[in-house]
This record gives sequence, C-alpha cells and structure tokens, in this order.
Amino acid sequence: MSRQLLQVLAESLNQAVELSAFGWDWRVVLPETDSTQEVAWAHAAQCDAGSGGGVVVALRQTAGRGRLGRVWASPEGNVYLSVLSRRLEPPMRSPGWAPVAGLAVATVLAGLGVETRVKWPNDVWVGGRKVCGILSEARGPWRVTGIGINANTTVADLPEEVRATATTLRDETGGPVDTALLLRNLLLELGTRERAYLADECRVPVEEYRSRMLWLGDEVRVTLSGGDLVAVVEGIREDGALCVRTAKGALEAVLVGEVMHVRPAGA
Ligand code: BTN
Repeated sequence: MSRQLLQVLAESLNQAVELSAFGWDWRVVLPETDSTQEVAWAHAAQCDAGSGGGVVVALRQTAGRGRLGRVWASPEGNVYLSVLSRRLEPPMRSPGWAPVAGLAVATVLAGLGVETRVKWPNDVWVGGRKVCGILSEARGPWRVTGIGINANTTVADLPEEVRATATTLRDETGGPVDTALLLRNLLLELGTRERAYLADECRVPVEEYRSRMLWLGDEVRVTLSGGDLVAVVEGIREDGALCVRTAKGALEAVLVGEVMHVRPAGA
C-alpha cells in the first residue's frame, strides 16, 4: 500500500512541471524519515548557487517537529511536506511568510469542501480543532516551510495528548482524501502565494487573513516571553504581527507568541 502511494506521489510531483517555475528544481518522496525539515536543510547545504530549492515529502516521520520545540506526531496517512526556498524577503519581514502559508493551506482545503480558520501565527483549524501545523524556519539564504496536515488518519490514530484539540480531513469529510492531488494543489498555491508575497514587498494580505482568522473579535491570552497578555483579537499587520486590543484600549502588536482562547465564564 505505501509503496503504491509512494509511486503515485512521486509521479504526481514529477509531472507538476509548474513547480519548476517556482524555482523548486528537485522533489523527493520518502517512505519514512526523521523529519522532512532535516532532509530539506541537508539539501540546502548541498544546493548549488543556481538552485532555487526543492520539495521533500514523507509518508511518515519518526521525529517530526513542531513550533516551540514540540513533537509533531507523524503516523502514516497524513501529509508531511517541507519546501526549501531561497529567502528573498528582508529578515525583518520573515514573520509574515508563515501566515501567508496558512492562507495557502486554507485555500486548498476549501477546494476540498473543508472550511477552515487560520490561527495566528500559522495553524489551520476546523471548528475548534487543529488540522494543520506550519513550521517556517530561516537560515542564511534559505527558508524551509514545513507543513503537516492530518489527512487520512482519524483522531484515534493520533497521540492521546492531542486528541481533544486535533481533527483530520478524514474525520471532517467522512471519507478518504486524495493526498497526491492535495499535495500538488498545495504546492501550486504555495508557489503562487510566495510569488505574490514577494511582488507585494512581503505584505500579508491583511483583509483576506482577517476574513479567515480564528477568534477575531474574541478575547485571547497571548503567551509572551515576558508574561501573558489578555486582549481582544483585532487582526494582523502587514508584517505578520498579531494585533490585539487590551482592556485599557491600547493596541498591541505581537510578533512572537502563542495564542489561547479565553472562554467567557460558563461557556
Ligand atoms: C506546529 O504546529 O507546531 C508546526 C508543525 C509542523 C509539522 C511539519 S510536518 C512536515 C515538517 N517536518 C517536520 O518535522 N515538521 C514539519
């Protein structure tokens, strides 16, 4: 089964000639790896000056990683993808890319009939549950965008500690998802969005993000390195910062932090 899927994915990505137009001149599909991020970084070390990067996909990961040093559970059936791209934005603009990648995922999932919300900075949720996580890492001239989508597993296949807050496409749609098509569409959307982002001086499309934003207008707790902030979500800034308004009426912009919903008492 996994050999067949491996072949289907490899063929689908190799036939997607459009991907070369985005500068991704190599594609690797692996049955298993520690983390597709690590594979992409190893390629970065070997890429010649003319290469624009490439794409790594794995059927499962033994050491998938998430933001803030967390583990990303990676059983077979889901989508594990890392894209190595030249980092063409100025370093100050780096926080803007991950929310744009979140919009790319949300757009592609909408095409499958799954309506999602983007959780700042870069998760994609369905209802009150996370279906996709994005890890954007930058080193020197390269950026690796790692995307994990819970696709053809069910929540029961995921570790117990995430079951209360996770969902999968299979659970949401009630049937299997064509992961080859999902990957192809996602890469095309990601490449198109990256191109538009660079052409627009690395601005996040703030109105589009707001239209899909989880907890817009709700009170949240933002965990910051210097302590927590409780405030209402107002939107996103062009550079990717989260905009929140405190109870005292101050508008704060957060570039790095973790957001949790504050539920009204009794809700
Ligand atoms: C998060 O929500 O914390 C981000 C999760 C990112 C997971 C993806 S799966 C593909 C790539 N390889 C990894 O090890 N991590 C990313």
